[in-house]
Amino acid sequence: MNSNLNVEIRPVTPPDVPAIAALAREIWQATYPGIITQEQIDFMLEQRYGHERLYDDLEDLHKWLDQAFHEGRRVGFAFSEIHKGEFKLDKLYIHPDVQRRGVGGQLISNVAERARKAGYPCVILQVNKRNVNAINSYKKYGFVVREVMVDDIGRGYVMDDYVMEKKL
Ligand SMILES: CC(C)(COP(=O)(O)OP(=O)(O)OC[C@H]1O[C@@H](n2cnc3c(N)ncnc32)[C@H](O)[C@@H]1OP(=O)(O)O)[C@@H](O)C(=O)NCCC(=O)NCCS
Repeated sequence: MNSNLNVEIRPVTPPDVPAIAALAREIWQATYPGIITQEQIDFMLEQRYGHERLYDDLEDLHKWLDQAFHEGRRVGFAFSEIHKGEFKLDKLYIHPDVQRRGVGGQLISNVAERARKAGYPCVILQVNKRNVNAINSYKKYGFVVREVMVDDIGRGYVMDDYVMEKKL
């Protein structure tokens, strides 16, 4: 097993947007074929990582966009937000080259600390039921399945997810 990587976590800023969108595409293409169709991947990438959407996210006071660097290379990102009164880890994506080396864990700790300081009792997230590696990593970091959720995301696509929560 590879050892953990030390990363520096920094906020995403507007000039980072194209690189975050490109990193998202690279990681999604390595993750979701076999879980959802290519058409749904393209649709969801446009919906969530279109540049204008990311610029809007950066201006939203209820959203936090974190990125992780290892030796100057951008290796992952975590977006968190206040969602319906709860603190949600909305996106967590680590480059395949450095998965399973503790980067996701460090980004989760950072988000959990932010939620704890703001007084929230737990962090929640949604994960595709078939994304077994991600589910296992969330369990490793203290998340448990709270409910099953089928979300209509438009154009006939649904997200077939678990909602997981980690008590703080
Ligand atoms: C899921 C993800 C965020 C976890 O981050 P990470 O930095 O790889 O995870 P960590 O090193 O902190 O934690 C490792 C744990 O994650 C799980 N895991 C992560 N990648 C795995 C893989 N390729 N195969 C098997 N288990 C994996 C294991 O439970 C592992 O624990 P172990 O090494 O003790 O067995 C990351 O692998 C990732 O970005 N995956 C692709 C995108 C994705 O699915 N994102 C989540 C969307 S909800």
